[in-house]
Order: sequence, then C-alpha cells, then structure tokens
Amino acid sequence: MDEQVTVVDHPLVQHKLTLMREKGTSTASFRQLLREISLLLAYEVTRGLDLTTKRIETPLCEMDAPILEGKKLALISILRAGNGLLDGILELIPAARVGFVGLYRDPETLQPVQYYCKVPAELEDRTVIVVDPMLATGNSSAAAVQLMKDKGAKNIRFLCLLAAPEGIARMREAHPDVPIVTASIDEQLNDHGYIVPGLGDAGDRMFGTK
Ligand code: URA
Repeated sequence: MDEQVTVVDHPLVQHKLTLMREKGTSTASFRQLLREISLLLAYEVTRGLDLTTKRIETPLCEMDAPILEGKKLALISILRAGNGLLDGILELIPAARVGFVGLYRDPETLQPVQYYCKVPAELEDRTVIVVDPMLATGNSSAAAVQLMKDKGAKNIRFLCLLAAPEGIARMREAHPDVPIVTASIDEQLNDHGYIVPGLGDAGDRMFGTK
C-alpha cells in the first residue's frame, strides 16, 4: 500500500468500527463509538505534528519541554458527518482552529455541490486536517481539499473512518501530496455511491435522521 495511505489496524479501532457497522447499533452508541474512535484516529493523523518548546519548571529543575503549537492546526470538517470526527479531535487538541465546508452530493451525478465554507485565516501557515468519516467516491473530499489549497493551505492531511478503493484512487490522483488516514479500506462502492460493506449513511446514523 501507498505510504501516503495509513490504515489504523489497532485492535481497539477495529473493535469499535465493527460495533459501528452493525445495523442494530443505536444512534447514541454510534455517536459514542465515533467519538472514541476519533480520539484513536487523531493519535495517528497528528503523528509528526511540529513541536515547539516551553521553558517549564518541574519539582526538580527547569527544562525546555516539547509542546504542540495548537493554534497552528486547522481542523476542517466536511459537513455534516465530519463533525462526529471533529469533536473527538478537539478534545485532544482544544486550541486547534476549526473550519467547516458544506458539500452535498448531487444524487444523480454524485458530484459535490458547495453550500457553505468558513475556515480560519492564514491556512498557509497551518497544518490542515480535513475530516469526513466516509471517503466514498472521493469527489467531495477532493473538492474540499482543493478548496483548502485555493485558500492557501500547503500542508494538508485527510482523516476518515472508512474508505472505498475508488475514493482512495480519486484522492491519490487529485491530491497525491495529501496523506490519508483511515480505519479501513472496504471492498467497493455500490451503485448509489455507498461504501460496501460500510456502515450505511454516517450522518443519518450519527444524528438519527433516517
Ligand atoms: N456517505 C455515507 O455516509 N456512507 C457511505 O457509504 C458513503 C457516503
């Protein structure tokens, strides 16, 4: 596998993902599991973030200790399902700046249509992590990443929960510079653009809107 694509095969992630896939899992449990899994995925997607140092005093002595420059990080949630991943990451990095991109899939063409975009300033100086649980056709994700590039972002990562091979291929083709972190690469997309075996519509399952 492409070294720019990381599948987080940690047993805790895989266990929680299985529970999320099950169709009988309640909305409350699904949401809770997504929150927990996002903490674990955040661990991987933030690997290699730049550290700075802070002069601190331990009970024994002074030292220059490593700290994150949280303000240098921008988390971009692709609405609405991205918010499920966003919440967990924000728990770990509360100082991160946050943006939202609203895209919906035209059901006929499966192409993304933008209806909202509000992102932090100076994206060129930040590590930008774009989050969306489902990398299906890859059209929305590729469009959201392009939007961030158009706004100056140079250092972008993409985090999802599930990916279809088609979505990975689309992203690799459009944005070979953007590393992808996912918990699973599933088998394929069905005719409606859903990931199989997948977990259904992530937004509906998260918000109970079906
Ligand atoms: N979006 C979803 O929520 N689920 C899929 O399987 C594909 C796209």
